[in-house]
Amino acid sequence: MKLQLIAAATLLLLTACSGQSNQQTAASVNLTSLAGNVAITETAPAPEMASYPKRGDSIARTFAEQPPLIPHKADYAINLKTNRCLTCHAPTKAKRMKATSIPTSHLGDLKGDINGKYYSCTQCHTPQASNTQAHVGNLTDKE
Ligand code: HEC
Ligand code: HEC
Repeated sequence: MKLQLIAAATLLLLTACSGQSNQQTAASVNLTSLAGNVAITETAPAPEMASYPKRGDSIARTFAEQPPLIPHKADYAINLKTNRCLTCHAPTKAKRMKATSIPTSHLGDLKGDINGKYYSCTQCHTPQASNTQAHVGNLTDKE
C-alpha cells in the first residue's frame, strides 16, 4: 500500500514537471514606427567626449565660498553603501591619492568622519569639462 502511494505521488510529480517544460512560442507582433515606414538616412555623429583639465590642475574659483569645480569626471558612485569620492578625498587618503582633502567644514567630528550634510558631493560640486561641441542656438540667434 505504502509503495503504491509513493509510486502514485512520483507519477503525479513527473506529470506536473513535464507541464512546465511545455514552452510557448510568442506570437509575432507587427510594430509600426510613429514616423511611418521611413528609412533612416541621416546619422548624427557621437557627441564629443568631455575633456577635463590636466590631472592635478584645479579650476580658479569665481566667487567667495564657491564649492570648487571638479576638474575630472564625476560619475563615481555616491550611495548608502559607498561614497567613491572619499576613496581619494577623505583626509586619511588624500595625500596618498595626490588629491586635496575635504576641508574641515565637511567633517562631522574630530575622527575625520564626514558630516552627513556634505555626503552628497555632487549636490554642490559639479564637474567642468571643456567641450568643443557647438551650443544649441536660441531664438535671438535666428533674428
Ligand atoms: C581617483 C581619485 C579621485 C576620485 C575618486 C575623486 N577625485 Fe576629485 N580630485 C582628484 C585629484 C587627483 C584632483 C586634483 C587635485 C586637486 O585639486 O585636489 C581632484 C580634484 C577635485 C576637486 C577640486 C579641488 C580644488 O581645490 O580645486 C574637487 C571639488 C573634487 N575633486 C571633487 C570630487 C568629487 C565630488 C568626487 C566624487 C564625485 C571626486 N572628486 C572623486 C582625485 C579624485
Ligand atoms: C553643501 C555643499 C557641499 C557639499 C555637499 C560638499 N561640498 Fe565640498 N566644498 C563646498 C564649499 C562651499 C567649499 C569651499 C569652502 C570650504 O572650503 O568649505 C568646498 C570645498 C571642497 C574642497 C576643496 C578643499 C580645499 O581645501 O581647497 C574639496 C576637495 C571638496 N570640497 C570635496 C568635497 C567632497 C569629496 C564632497 C563629498 C564627500 C563634498 N565636497 C561635499 C561645498 C560642499
